[in-house]
Amino acid sequence: MSEHIEITKADGINTIRMNRADKKNAITRAMYGAMASALQAGDADEAIRCHVILGVPGAFSAGNDMADFMVVATGGDGGTEVIDFLVALATAAKPVISGVDGIAVGVGTTIQFHCDVSYATPRTQFRTPFVDLGIVPEAGSSLLGPAMLGRQRAFAMLALGDGMSAEEAVAVGFIRAVVGEDELEAKTMEAARVIAAKPPEAMRLARDLLLGDRKALVERIVEEAKIFRARLKSDETRQALMAFMNRKKG
Ligand code: COA
Repeated sequence: MSEHIEITKADGINTIRMNRADKKNAITRAMYGAMASALQAGDADEAIRCHVILGVPGAFSAGNDMADFMVVATGGDGGTEVIDFLVALATAAKPVISGVDGIAVGVGTTIQFHCDVSYATPRTQFRTPFVDLGIVPEAGSSLLGPAMLGRQRAFAMLALGDGMSAEEAVAVGFIRAVVGEDELEAKTMEAARVIAAKPPEAMRLARDLLLGDRKALVERIVEEAKIFRARLKSDETRQALMAFMNRKKG
């Protein structure tokens, strides 16, 4: 469990809110663990029809917590929470909806590859600076990115680290729509209510057909994670992490 993850179950909707505003919703191991459990519990609960993932105003998520990266970079144990969350998300039995405002870095962006409906605000920037940090794309984005965005846009996003505005994200089919900051949560919950009102068995079958076999996706997530963890110990990554940690010291 994590004090920074708030879970609300109401009207058939399992809402998971990341709430660590002072750190722009950087995700810790405890937060990943809590989100993995929340997805699994929602999938197992017959009353739940869909999951919603939200952040806080101005920050969906600044990605993986850099201090947690540093623990692995310096020889510590990274635990299983990240992979537990990514697999729970990629294999979710029920639709996943997200509402994104502002910062969406790293996994804050790649979560959207697993969402059935994502809304974002005009000030949202999707950004995945994996290579600049010496690491590699994660969350199955190396498989889903080229398939969803085309090879060159995926390369720009996942290898070059080029940002993507909310407007472009709609144009390339990465998210569903851009909505104003003040209406983001209402629109997101409205989409969830529409999904929750559909016949659940038909919804499950339709979604399974759309997603296809997710075995290869899980295999890719595990393969990426192996390379990712090894890279955290590389000089390239250690230097990038040190630069982040020291950036405010004059
Ligand atoms: N891990 C840990 N802490 C983070 C974080 C992260 N990924 N992202 C932000 N924070 C913390 C900052 O250290 C800062 O903490 P402090 O107030 O104790 O110094 C606080 O959140 C606010 O961040 P700050 O950088 O001051 O806000 P900003 O609006 O100027 O910039 C970002 C926001 C997200 C652009 C910037 O913080 C950033 O680049 N973060 C790293 C993102 C990243 O590379 N994530 C990993 C992707 S794989």
